[in-house]
Amino acid sequence: MASLKINKILTIESNTSNTLLESMEHAGLQPEYNCRDGHCGACRCTLISGEVEYVGFAMAYTQGNEILPCVCKAKSALELENVKYFPKAKRA
Ligand code: FES
Repeated sequence: MASLKINKILTIESNTSNTLLESMEHAGLQPEYNCRDGHCGACRCTLISGEVEYVGFAMAYTQGNEILPCVCKAKSALELENVKYFPKAKRA
């Protein structure tokens, strides 16, 4: 498990056998995605600190410090920014 800090406001645990996108979903978030395969760039966010391992091909354009959570796993504690997500909807 590695801690995953998101947008400076939320910290979740990331199981190192899951992608970062899956870890966010398991934590109850609804992160933005489309292809889940490194092509579209919908999940793109900024890696502030830590190290990731790519488990698929990142075909979408990324700048130097940007990553694609759908094809990355955590190799260490991570800090991410510009993550687009919705909190899990609460039922009344
Ligand atoms: S969801 Fe398409 S690149 Fe991540």
